[in-house]
Amino acid sequence: MPIIAVANSKGGVGKSTTAVHLAAWLYEQGHRVTLADCDTQQSSSEWIREAVPGVKTVRLDNPNHILNELPNLITETDYVVCDGPGSQTETSRALLLRAHLAIVPCKASMLEVRALAKATEVLRQAQDIRGGVPKAIIVLSMVGKNYRLTKDMKDAAAALGLPLARTAMTLRQIYADAPGQCAVVWKLGSRAREAADEIRALFAEILPEAKRGKKLKAKH
Ligand SMILES: Nc1ncnc2c1ncn2[C@@H]1O[C@H](COP(=O)(O)OP(=O)(O)OP(=O)(O)O)[C@@H](O)[C@H]1O
Ligand SMILES: [Mg+2]
Repeated sequence: MPIIAVANSKGGVGKSTTAVHLAAWLYEQGHRVTLADCDTQQSSSEWIREAVPGVKTVRLDNPNHILNELPNLITETDYVVCDGPGSQTETSRALLLRAHLAIVPCKASMLEVRALAKATEVLRQAQDIRGGVPKAIIVLSMVGKNYRLTKDMKDAAAALGLPLARTAMTLRQIYADAPGQCAVVWKLGSRAREAADEIRALFAEILPEAKRGKKLKAKH
């Protein structure tokens, strides 16, 4: 029954890409999933409607709407994945006051490392108010092949008390192509195999309890 917010107050860091793939992955693991599109551009709800019609979509694009509606939505589905906006701070704040888990995609560059404190300010305020909730994890997105900043990013995240996912999302053309094809990467054939493997591994790392067959396997 968790509400998962994909949030970073910086624009263009991979929030919608992460949210759509996460909603699709959870659905494929056998869960009932709603994607709450909290961005006024509504691109992720259009994308998921085409890619995975079984995922319910809802537009929640202002703070009052988010605060009022999220508790109702989560009674109807197993997971609500919220695609956060790129800039509206109050919308992000409302989301983070309701979410159980925040996934924070963060581009892997020195500029982003320096901006991490600012980009996660609203998150840390929410955790302060709610006694550590939402739990949060930073995911490196658009990591270049010759990326050498992992240690800087680890240090910056540790200084803010935020864990960093072991699995990162690599900079790959296939992610940029996926919305135009109205598909998730694991439906895009062999060209997308590496991307599909890494993004599935990422979600299994972040949400091991959501993985299909987990409970069955544990019993035997
Ligand atoms: N790993 C990746 N490799 C290559 N391109 C990517 C990757 N992730 C996302 N993109 C592309 O980068 C752009 C920004 O990604 P996305 O829309 O997911 O970010 P966002 O944080 O939701 O942006 P906004 O703040 O505008 O809502 C998009 O064109 C997307 O297709
Ligand atoms: Mg977006």
